[in-house]
Amino acid sequence: MIYLITGSNGLLGQKLLKKLKDFNFEVIATSKGKNRNFDSESYTYESLDITDKDEVNRVLNLYKPNVIFNTAAMTNVDLCEDEMDNCDKLNTFSVAYLADAALSIDAHLIHISTDFIFDGKKDLYSEEDPPNPLSYYGKSKLEAEKLLYNHNCNWSILRTIVIYGVGKKLNKSNIVLWAKDQLENHNQIKIIDDEFRAPTFAEDLAQACINTALKKEYGIFHVSGKELMSIYEIVESIANFYNFDKSLIKRIKSKELNQKAKRPKKTSFNLLKAKNTLDYSPKSFLESLEIIHKQLKNN
Ligand SMILES: NC(=O)c1ccc[n+]([C@@H]2O[C@H](COP(=O)([O-])OP(=O)(O)OC[C@H]3O[C@@H](n4cnc5c(N)ncnc54)[C@H](OP(=O)(O)O)[C@@H]3O)[C@@H](O)[C@H]2O)c1
Repeated sequence: MIYLITGSNGLLGQKLLKKLKDFNFEVIATSKGKNRNFDSESYTYESLDITDKDEVNRVLNLYKPNVIFNTAAMTNVDLCEDEMDNCDKLNTFSVAYLADAALSIDAHLIHISTDFIFDGKKDLYSEEDPPNPLSYYGKSKLEAEKLLYNHNCNWSILRTIVIYGVGKKLNKSNIVLWAKDQLENHNQIKIIDDEFRAPTFAEDLAQACINTALKKEYGIFHVSGKELMSIYEIVESIANFYNFDKSLIKRIKSKELNQKAKRPKKTSFNLLKAKNTLDYSPKSFLESLEIIHKQLKNN
């Protein structure tokens, strides 16, 4: 079996690469630019910009993977409002290139989508709930999904919520690493207490992606953490875990941030389908903090 990852320099891409090391598979890691991952003995690295249709065809036809994990995306939600063309290219059009190529080589395309396709007005979204994105990012990811619903390739969509974890030379931080770093350095931070998410441990999501491939499960799956927390509660839990000074955390409301993109107030998923079909078994937030703590100590 040959597995190919797009966006292998990103957080989820790195976790997939690490987990796949435990299997006897041929692994092709691809990302835009140079490889920023660990030892390259267990996989082949190929630079691939997925917005370039010819390059997508060249690389996929060269390696003919059985499974493609598409983790590459423009994930800066506010930037997507400013750079809509770039957002369309990366989050939507490239998915068409991957799906067409997947069909031609009979590969299983496992694509990652987002809670931001929903408006956040409902509790525990299930896979069948109607989407209503509030931001351009959400719209671009929904357009990619729609394109797959009508595509003849073998596809799976794993929707997820706020991914966190430890990575190497990541281009962007995540809530856990950022808050830990700020509080460790005794910086005052302003944190919103009126948006709620079920944050997802990157390792859990990577395992769900691999299980989707191994079990050849197709369709849409909701894969997130199992606890709904306000962003304030997420940061407070990190402070409690590390015994940081909680007076450094100032509660604010989301409108004070003046963010360009509109975000859903509350997003959490009904995980039943993922649990039953993908054997998905997410860690608690506290369990994942313990793992992250050990990983950071060993780094
Ligand atoms: N992060 C979240 O909280 C979150 C929440 C819900 C859903 N998701 C979805 O989950 C997936 C993975 O997210 P993530 O946080 O792991 O993403 P990430 O860390 O931002 O990684 C994305 C990777 O894609 C690479 N990339 C950028 N442009 C590319 C291009 N044109 N061609 C190929 N690769 C390119 C990036 O390279 P550089 O590192 O060089 O920029 C980066 O390594 C995405 O589909 C995202 O939409 C994420």
